[in-house]
Amino acid sequence: MDKLNIVGGNTLNGVIPISGAKNAALPLMCLALLTDETLVLEGWPDLADTQSMRDLLQNLGVKSQHSNDALHMRIDGAIGIEASYDIVRKMRASILVLGPLLARMGKAKVSLPGGCAIGTRPVDLHIMVMEKLGAIITLEDGYVLAEAKHGLIGNHIYFPMVSVGATENALMVAVLAQGQTVLEGAAQEPEITDLAECLIAMGAKISGHGTNTIIIDGVDQLTGAKHKVVPDRIEAGTFAIAAALTGGHVTLQYDRPEHLAALTDKLIEAGIDVSIGDNSMTISGQGRPQPVDITTAPYPDFPTDLQAQFMALMVFADGTSNIDETIFENRFMHVPELMRMGADISVAGGSAIIHGVERLIGAPVMATDLRASVSLVLAGLVAQGTTTVQRIYHLDRGYYRLEEKLNACGADITRIKG
Ligand code: UD1
Repeated sequence: MDKLNIVGGNTLNGVIPISGAKNAALPLMCLALLTDETLVLEGWPDLADTQSMRDLLQNLGVKSQHSNDALHMRIDGAIGIEASYDIVRKMRASILVLGPLLARMGKAKVSLPGGCAIGTRPVDLHIMVMEKLGAIITLEDGYVLAEAKHGLIGNHIYFPMVSVGATENALMVAVLAQGQTVLEGAAQEPEITDLAECLIAMGAKISGHGTNTIIIDGVDQLTGAKHKVVPDRIEAGTFAIAAALTGGHVTLQYDRPEHLAALTDKLIEAGIDVSIGDNSMTISGQGRPQPVDITTAPYPDFPTDLQAQFMALMVFADGTSNIDETIFENRFMHVPELMRMGADISVAGGSAIIHGVERLIGAPVMATDLRASVSLVLAGLVAQGTTTVQRIYHLDRGYYRLEEKLNACGADITRIKG
């Protein structure tokens, strides 16, 4: 297994390009199942997770070709209906083929994702959506079997809690259902808006995306389209925090700063300088940040996917801060690892209290999930000596050329092949 050696202490200065968003690309790729024509995703991020989705779609009959930053996808022959456990266990987002398969084929068999490192992550809301549109659902041998013998009919669906994945599945199934579907309590994440915009380019009738009520008028069929994947706000936020932590001056080539307002507001509160340009965002840090409290919540509030990275920043704050995690019940696995580097953190339930320290000391640490792993890399950038992050396959799931992008700004990170 590969690992990263990070020699801490370098200030980051330079320009970092931001890739297309993993969390947008994964559902967008599933749209290839909804049309016989070619779907082109420009700015497609080439990551372990997007490659897993490519494999899954290939198994289902979607041929794809990657060239010049774009993924070209097209159904070739018969469409399969089964997403096996072998693929779903690697990547929870595989559940996103449930809606498109049901919409297109009238049935689907998708393995249940099971528990994962950051919590139980159930799929009851995804199932509720399919049932509301008329599918019969059975659970058998760890699989969800969905069948709509008499077609799918639009309905009024109320989500009792905000779910990004269930909203995406709902959009992807309702676009081909008969009549109107109203999603109330829908997720408002930029990745949902991106999905809706691509669907509209394919001929779907959708309004209200970006708000908590989305209205979908079903159509008979969808066409191909060319769509640019929205830039990755979590990648941009991670590098913004890296710049702040190292007291550097980094310009992100990122043109959707409004998607990161929850983070940049907190960075400014912590005394970090953030300036927004036409197609860029520049972050300058100096000295220790001020302590700032955050609470993770659905968009437009502070994203759970930046919680671990923000904690790495607060570990250095000049005072005590509090972090409440409200999305996932087990998302503090970076805490013991940060503490091995000298951080002073106590956790009670979904809350962490961070007493800022003046220095961290490099140590061997273990990556446990994607965002936890990157928080250890951030801490390693400012720790004294060398930090070795093991199990970095987690990082490769979601960050495109992480060490290359950071090293280009002065970091000292080496990948050790295992
Ligand atoms: C979630 C995050 C998303 C993040 C992604 C990867 C939110 C709202 N969602 O999306 O920002 O990018 O993880 O880290 O911030 N839930 C159920 N039943 C379901 C589906 C979800 O109870 O059927 C619960 C989950 O356990 C969780 C909450 O709803 O507590 C939000 O989950 P959801 O948004 O669906 O998860 P992801 O789509 O993975």
